[in-house]
Amino acid sequence: MRRTLRAGICIGVALTLSAGAYAVVDGSGDPTAVTSDEGKWTDKDGNPTFKIASDGTVDWYTFAGFTRYNSECLRCHGPDGVGSTYAPALIDSMKHLSYSEFYAIVAGGKKDVSSSQELVMPASGENRNVMCYIDSIYTYLRARGDDAVGRGRPQQHAPKPASFTKAEDECMG
Ligand code: HEC
Repeated sequence: MRRTLRAGICIGVALTLSAGAYAVVDGSGDPTAVTSDEGKWTDKDGNPTFKIASDGTVDWYTFAGFTRYNSECLRCHGPDGVGSTYAPALIDSMKHLSYSEFYAIVAGGKKDVSSSQELVMPASGENRNVMCYIDSIYTYLRARGDDAVGRGRPQQHAPKPASFTKAEDECMG
């Protein structure tokens, strides 16, 4: 009797866990946050990813990425990554771009030569305001593309990790 009960409880727990797991797969694979290095989350493959608490609190990188996206990318790609008449919706791009592809495009730029209108994604490899925050921008857009955060400014965010400030100071010089 006791054994049956315990087995029943175990099955119950397993079902709850699998129902709560994240089912989305994007350009970098499964975005589920697995490891945290002082508040910087990575997925099982080591790619930067978001971590959203059940009350909606976002990790610091997602929040910092929102701010940086607004200052560096919004003017072409539209608010919240939804795209504009000039540049594509990055919330869609994230569904197929891997972290390394994203990184290469942002650093090296992209030019659509086949289009009648000349569309140019500027190379930002020398721009510290972009490159020092590339993981944050990626994390934010990944969360947007996976529908883990909505439009607008995230209401609540985790505190800024000391390691973020240190990396920022070193990178910005
Ligand atoms: C001056 C306008 C402009 C700015 C600023 C800009 N982009 Fe772009 N971006 C473009 C255009 C135009 C394209 C499409 C280029 C093409 O298709 O060849 C593009 C393409 C991209 C792509 C490839 C999308 C895909 O589906 O292949 C990524 C990723 C991207 N931009 C990220 C960013 C990020 C991140 C920022 C901010 C750090 C940024 N861009 C800032 C204009 C801009």
